[in-house]
Amino acid sequence: MCGIVGYLGNEEKKEILLDGLQELEYRGYDSAGIAVIEGEKLSNYKAIGKLENLREKTKNYSSENFGISIGHTRWATHGKPTELNAHPHLGAYSYVVHNGIIENYQELKKELQDDGVNFLSQTDTETIVHLFEKKHKTANSVFSAFEQTIERLDGAYATLLITEADVDTIYFAKNGSPMLIGFNGSDIHFASSDTPIIGKASEVYYLEDGEYGYAKQGELKLFDANGEKSFTKQPLTADKVSAQKDGYRFFMEKEIYEQHRVMSETMMGRVLDNSIDFDEIDKSFFDGIKAIKICACGTSYHSALASAYLFERIAKVRCDIEIASEFRYKEPLLSDDTLFITISQSGETADTLEALKMAKRAGLKSLSICNVDNSSIVRESDAAILTRAGIEKGVASTKAFATQTMVLWMLSLYMGQEKNSISKELLQTEIDAMLHTPKALLVTDDLHAKLHRLSKRYLHGHGFFFIGRDIFFPLALEGALKLKEISYMHAEGYPAGEMKHGPIALADSELFTIALMPKTMHYDKIKSNVEELSARDATICAISPLPFDLADDFIQTKYDSHPMLEFFEMMVVTQLLALEISVRLGNDVDMPRNLAKSVTVE
Ligand code: M6R
Repeated sequence: MCGIVGYLGNEEKKEILLDGLQELEYRGYDSAGIAVIEGEKLSNYKAIGKLENLREKTKNYSSENFGISIGHTRWATHGKPTELNAHPHLGAYSYVVHNGIIENYQELKKELQDDGVNFLSQTDTETIVHLFEKKHKTANSVFSAFEQTIERLDGAYATLLITEADVDTIYFAKNGSPMLIGFNGSDIHFASSDTPIIGKASEVYYLEDGEYGYAKQGELKLFDANGEKSFTKQPLTADKVSAQKDGYRFFMEKEIYEQHRVMSETMMGRVLDNSIDFDEIDKSFFDGIKAIKICACGTSYHSALASAYLFERIAKVRCDIEIASEFRYKEPLLSDDTLFITISQSGETADTLEALKMAKRAGLKSLSICNVDNSSIVRESDAAILTRAGIEKGVASTKAFATQTMVLWMLSLYMGQEKNSISKELLQTEIDAMLHTPKALLVTDDLHAKLHRLSKRYLHGHGFFFIGRDIFFPLALEGALKLKEISYMHAEGYPAGEMKHGPIALADSELFTIALMPKTMHYDKIKSNVEELSARDATICAISPLPFDLADDFIQTKYDSHPMLEFFEMMVVTQLLALEISVRLGNDVDMPRNLAKSVTVE
């Protein structure tokens, strides 16, 4: 994770770096730092905690002339969140920022320590700057020293280096961690994603793994293992306004509220009167495909789990779901009649990306469902369907989950339609329900006020169980994940029918059960499961369109004509409940402790 920015040009550098880091703070907020070389003058500031601390520390500093500059916001991997461990890391006369993990850093560190180098931090990153300065002693140029340095690095990195040995140049390298370069006249920006450069650069180049080079006097030199290479810039047209809070207290709140709107975008041009269409997929894309395997992490994994019910039920295609970090090391048996789908909001999740690369090496056809165009996962896949949720900034994912689930629902119908495994009548019923989804996602004032009131009763206890059956089981997992991420209270999602096989032993009045009780899916079965918990005095919060006498708290939902409409409406309830509990506990909703938005380390 971590966010990096760099800037070379004549503008005031501190503000550019801090504004850029603000956009990337979701990637990590354990500490932040900047380093600037202006003429011969080198300045460096670091602060632990959120970026506002660095802003405060640098309030009397500005750099108005031509210069080079780098900045970093950290999610700690090696060493505690201290100032010494904060980037940029200093050698004798050079600074480096890095996102990723240098896997052979211990070997490199030992080698450098044997040469007498004194390390100040516990990070893997510091090895880069010392290694560079060691190579610089014998190399015939700064660039050659940089090249020799990255040749020695194993693992994932996006790194920027500036040095007093070459005061008008930024050196960069990318392998396995995201980095892009923005251009605006002779100004050059570097960043981990395009949000810091929207509005600042008019063109962009997304670096590929193995690429490195330098920026100097408004020019960029790009290299890979085969030597210097040319590259094509793309216009950068994204809209800055979409990344602001628009009057909501938190990004997460705004993102919950905008789900009904973005969902229409997700469906636009894809859900037609009586068929589903995806421009992104060739008609022959599913030829020869007999099974689906989906790999993802976290929330994206939960949307995958829900879709397995849909692919098998609607499209009649076998569908297995795997957590990407498990898949990578299990030596899976893969056959080329399997479509390999990855799901990712960011498109940069290291485990998911590596799982995709493995599947490709095994010769599988790949499809990604992703929110970020041009992300690593999108670029690596044979085809991609974008979820069109817009920029998601809350670390706790909401609208990404909603739109992923919608794309997967559409895809199951599309496969059913293309393989003739679904009747025209069923297809029509599903499409009619789909078109009602935006309404089911609308947050009413009454609902939000009710959840605000209710939340005060759920600030203690020894844990939460979210329970559901069928597609409502993955929704229960997702509800529990949302709550634990931002409330820091223990919460588990469980299949309702499985409680009696063990977890019911935990039931007492301090065990809060959030029961997802849809009318259209196994209502009587889940009702019995909840009654069993109520008989053991568990506190029950029931979410259902049907009144339930045994509920201690009851949230009545409105949409009871189709399981997916019930799914989406209940999803909003669980998101708002988590949000309101977190707010009452005084937590940072958008940047919960220990987390980061984009997990680019394994
Ligand atoms: O960007 P991705 O969808 O690949 O991210 C996967 C998970 O890291 C992510 O869903 C995480 O679980 C969120 N914090 C959930 O709210």
